[in-house]
Amino acid sequence: MEGYLRKADEKDVELLFSWVNDPITRNSAFDSHVISYDEHVNWFQKILKTENIHQLIFEKEGVPVGQVRIETKGDAAELDYSIAPGFRMMGYGKELIALVKQYVETNFRDVKEIVALVKAENIGSQKMLLDNDFSPQYGVYSYTLGKELNEVQDNSGNL
Ligand SMILES: CC(C)(COP(=O)(O)OP(=O)(O)OC[C@H]1O[C@@H](n2cnc3c(N)ncnc32)[C@H](O)[C@@H]1OP(=O)(O)O)[C@@H](O)C(=O)NCCC(=O)NCCS
Repeated sequence: MEGYLRKADEKDVELLFSWVNDPITRNSAFDSHVISYDEHVNWFQKILKTENIHQLIFEKEGVPVGQVRIETKGDAAELDYSIAPGFRMMGYGKELIALVKQYVETNFRDVKEIVALVKAENIGSQKMLLDNDFSPQYGVYSYTLGKELNEVQDNSGNL
């Protein structure tokens, strides 16, 4: 069954808190301190009001199985994502990134590149990005939007 992304709202504060201190998720972050409930609530309220940040929930048949935060900075969109413990190693990570590419293309017309910073030991995260045609460079994985279209045009000898 296909998954989909929906925008998070105030009601998702507990859901996201239930995921944020998962040890594997904390370990994957560059700032890996354990997050208190108050810190989380303050942070989430700010995120919901920030225009260039979209916090999304990834669902399968109404069941939340992951989250992704997309923050635009100029013509780049930076990603932060996780799949909920209990739903990992089922291909959901790969599907999430494929949906993110579509979402950015539709919602951020000025964005030219999607980027994710991944630790060297985070093999699962690297694989799901590579499988979605991201290119690695020193731990930064990037995907250029519209590349396929340009390649088709180049090959055909047209503009
Ligand atoms: C990284 C993460 C999102 C991967 O999600 P997932 O749903 O388990 O990923 P998938 O099932 O789509 O797996 C993608 C590939 O990675 C592999 N993989 C997944 N987790 C792995 C792990 N811990 N170690 C090695 N390989 C792993 C899968 O076997 C699959 O390999 P394949 O391409 O050969 O089939 C998930 O483990 C997670 O939420 N981790 C904590 C948060 C995190 O790391 N976020 C990213 C920060 S950059």
